[in-house]
Amino acid sequence: MSEENFKVTPWEIEGKVDYQKLIKQFGTTAIDKQLLEKLKNKTKSKRLSAFFRRGFIYSHRDLEKIIDNIDKNNFFIYTGRGPSGKMHIGHLIPFMISKWFQDEFDCNVYIAMADDEKFVFKDKLTFEEMEKTAKDNFLDISAIGLNPDKTFFFSDIEYISKLYPVALKFSKKINFSTAKAVFGFNNESNLGQFFYPAVQIVPTTFENKNCLIPAGIDQDPYWRIQRDVAEKLGYKKVVAVHNKLLPPLQGLEGKMSSSVGDTAIFLDDDSKTIEKKINKYAFSGGQPTLEEQRKKGGNTEICVVYSWLEILFEDSDEKLEQRKKDCKSGKILCGECKKYLSDKISKTLKQHQENKIKNSPLIEKYKYSGILAQKMWK
Ligand code: TYM
Repeated sequence: MSEENFKVTPWEIEGKVDYQKLIKQFGTTAIDKQLLEKLKNKTKSKRLSAFFRRGFIYSHRDLEKIIDNIDKNNFFIYTGRGPSGKMHIGHLIPFMISKWFQDEFDCNVYIAMADDEKFVFKDKLTFEEMEKTAKDNFLDISAIGLNPDKTFFFSDIEYISKLYPVALKFSKKINFSTAKAVFGFNNESNLGQFFYPAVQIVPTTFENKNCLIPAGIDQDPYWRIQRDVAEKLGYKKVVAVHNKLLPPLQGLEGKMSSSVGDTAIFLDDDSKTIEKKINKYAFSGGQPTLEEQRKKGGNTEICVVYSWLEILFEDSDEKLEQRKKDCKSGKILCGECKKYLSDKISKTLKQHQENKIKNSPLIEKYKYSGILAQKMWK
């Protein structure tokens, strides 16, 4: 781990992430009020998504480049998923942000299923498991309701013949020492891992417009090397917005992880499982006894329940503010907040699971989804 006591790479998060320090480490820019105001003024709804309003999307690269010319339909979106296992609620966030941009600005959205990445990075993942997971993840992402006329989905493996020429061009400009420094590769890293970053970069060049990436800050190393090389190859430097990482149930450290099941709520969890996980594992900022809670109040700063409501499950700013006041004054107890949160999650996921079943015939198209600029989801 670095001297900062936390580590963030596209493959691991360790320790309590200091997001402000990460901005310095990665060389990105904090999103300030002025930039948010500018963005808000350009939206159809004249309202920012809660991810922006509450600072969960907190850092960027060159976002002003897009905002300044946004009326000219000057950008497209690219984001992706590495299908290593079942998706949890944190994994959906960049797709929800992509949907927000699409709803507000009618832009195209390209989604990569990075099946190649997960196969070479996950020791125990067999090819067959990975293929099965990729299809399931595809249906989860399709369930959030992106515009089928403007959303293009591809599996890297399926689409590789189209990606390969540009991947080669990028790969030739990225040498061993850069890859080592940016991604932490070492003597144990395999050949597939070395080449993969060149593949992830390619879709940033899909249209001759600015490419905007909504993704977690952990993905930024890819964009850093894209930006070092793109102009030398005649492409535009990618633009990015970075979200923080939804914390695990156990506390505000680290990130939710699919491989540690009890830290996460999965998209296929049912109401009972959700309630059980929240009651048993969710760390709250409450006092040890009821009397103390009533007298001293709770602490929302360290409470995972409050943090999940703030990030994902309470859209009303007024209700959130009221909850904070009621918690701090001791008026409400942790049990009540936990119940409120599990009901909200259950309702959201029930709808999600229904949408997923409705979309399941799409799986027939998944195999052939590699043709760019075709209406894939119809
Ligand atoms: P993956 O599958 O690890 O994660 C998918 C996306 O989810 C974000 N993410 C989270 N966001 C909020 N809270 C969390 N706890 C959380 N955990 C993960 C990730 O930052 C990511 O945006 N290499 C990529 C796949 C990929 C990709 C891309 C991602 C291919 N092309 C372009 C972004 C943009 C990966 O394995 O993501």
